[in-house]
Amino acid sequence: MKLQNSYILAIESSCDDTSCAILKNNQVLSNVTAAQAIHEQYGGVVPELASRAHQSNIVPTVDVAIKNAGIDKNELTAIAFTKGPGLMGSLLVGTSFAKSLALSLNIPLIDVHHMQAHILAHFIDHGQRVPEFPFLGVTISGGHTQIVKVTDYHKMEVVGTTQDDAIGEAFDKSGKLMGLGYPAGPQIDKLAQLGNPSAFEFPIPKAPGLNFSFSGFKTAVLYFLQKEKSKNPNFVEENLADLCASIQHTLIKILFKKLEKAVKETGIKRVAIGGGVSANSGIRTALQAKQQQGWDIFIPPFEYTTDNAAMIGISAYFKYLNKEFCGLDVSAAPRLSM
Ligand code: KG4
Ligand code: ZN
Repeated sequence: MKLQNSYILAIESSCDDTSCAILKNNQVLSNVTAAQAIHEQYGGVVPELASRAHQSNIVPTVDVAIKNAGIDKNELTAIAFTKGPGLMGSLLVGTSFAKSLALSLNIPLIDVHHMQAHILAHFIDHGQRVPEFPFLGVTISGGHTQIVKVTDYHKMEVVGTTQDDAIGEAFDKSGKLMGLGYPAGPQIDKLAQLGNPSAFEFPIPKAPGLNFSFSGFKTAVLYFLQKEKSKNPNFVEENLADLCASIQHTLIKILFKKLEKAVKETGIKRVAIGGGVSANSGIRTALQAKQQQGWDIFIPPFEYTTDNAAMIGISAYFKYLNKEFCGLDVSAAPRLSM
């Protein structure tokens, strides 16, 4: 029997991006994201402002996604949304909107785990090869740093995670200390290409097993800059490229130390990377080098790697195939575990 096509409308609102996507089976028809510029002036996401911006963004974002997909809302077969983890106020907007839409269209509702979705983004079909199970999913962004053992679409085990800051936060906070705007990650990446990665040495924080720690790194950068600036007030300006290169080099070293350990311990050399930080050119070069050592690397296109609703849609699609729906009594879960 041939399965009927599914048209899933997916909503992502866990942090500061309001995103809506429509998927026809495992392919994306539209993926629309309203980024919130409001947080730039604060150097980080302000939860209350994020929640309010979601409220004003959600209707137009959903509207444009439906229009771009070229379908009628009555053709939709299910509504998916991010249940968690994320910011409570932000999650609530997407959750409530998804519930009312599913109720009014009388179609099933599917709750999605944000971190699982980051990993399942690799299965969005755009003609590329997809990772076979088992593989290691590595999610690195401003909100997450995780190594996950993936044995099936929704069978995932977190084998390593950050105990404090995410790697993207380490980039952003170090950048802030050097006077760079938010988010500083892409700027550090660019400037690092002009600098010497061995110019300055920063400590590698200790964390047990496959876990990460980045807060000590940020403090080390703070003290180092304070000390150097007391000797030379123009230290940062005069050494910006070398500082960026050295900071990036250290952060990559921290990441790869644990990644190599995870590959060794699990015996899994298939590595699928995601999250905003995977755009970093130093990380990409380091991953390519690993390919020479027999690692099989997967990197999704940038639009599916930062927070987006297409990844929520693909995760929901695999649940839809199993008829894994949720009730209208479902609630947002800021601390949802894998
Ligand atoms: O996935 P994302 O867009 O949002 C979440 O945090 O969930 O990731 C944003 C993070 C920021 O910390 C930003 O500085 C970092 O990704 N980022 C980068 C680069 N592009 C984005 N970090 C280093 N190098 C980059 N090229
Ligand atoms: Zn995310």
